[in-house]
Amino acid sequence: MLNIVLFGPPGSGKGTQSEKIIEKYGLSHISTGDLLRSEVAAQTELGKQAKEIMDKGELVSDKIVIGMIRNKIEESQDGSGFIFDGFPRTVEQARELRKALTDYDERVSVMISLEVPREELVKRLLKRGKDTGRSDDKLETINNRIDVYNRQTVPVTYYYDKMHKHAGVEGTGSVDKIFERIVEVIGLIKN
Ligand code: AP5
Repeated sequence: MLNIVLFGPPGSGKGTQSEKIIEKYGLSHISTGDLLRSEVAAQTELGKQAKEIMDKGELVSDKIVIGMIRNKIEESQDGSGFIFDGFPRTVEQARELRKALTDYDERVSVMISLEVPREELVKRLLKRGKDTGRSDDKLETINNRIDVYNRQTVPVTYYYDKMHKHAGVEGTGSVDKIFERIVEVIGLIKN
């Protein structure tokens, strides 16, 4: 199986590039942001709690997110692998992902980290906020999401560094150009 962690700050293009990776490699997509937004839309108890946290740009608790991931891995065991988009976001989540995959004799193949300067992230997210009305795409929340990423999520890169699984990819330029860079990285691990 090919199991990819697609990593990067808010607005770095994880969702956009996930779609292209899925099309090419036929992986199952697990996006914790999408899963949480479905809970919010369905107005479940979990969704109500999550919305408040997401609108501030903070992280939802590890326990909730890990539970969701375990369920999804269990549901999609017969595919070619997974793309984890926006997960893990803490070292604790990375450890739990390792355990969950080990239960199925699987492991993370590579962690691809999209690198994009802060000004570009803010520009992309403000534009999306205007175009779609996504509730956390407001300047104050965007800035907090990026700060939370730098504080709580960047340490995950050191976790994968230690396992020699962290590959940085320049996340600026056209969507197709960035995808080419990603395919190059995946080619290296597959061969
Ligand atoms: P989540 O949904 O994961 O959001 P995010 O990480 O903030 O990422 P985005 O979806 O904003 O950006 P992206 O990197 O996917 O980029 P995209 O392709 O969309 O999380 C939302 C919230 O949920 C979190 O803040 C947290 O509260 C909670 N949460 C989620 N996972 C969690 C977890 N594991 N633990 C705890 N809490 C969790 O692109 C962004 C925009 O840029 C788009 O408009 C796109 O069209 C545009 N764009 C993409 N590529 C380019 C390009 N090359 N050039 C120009 N524009 C581009």
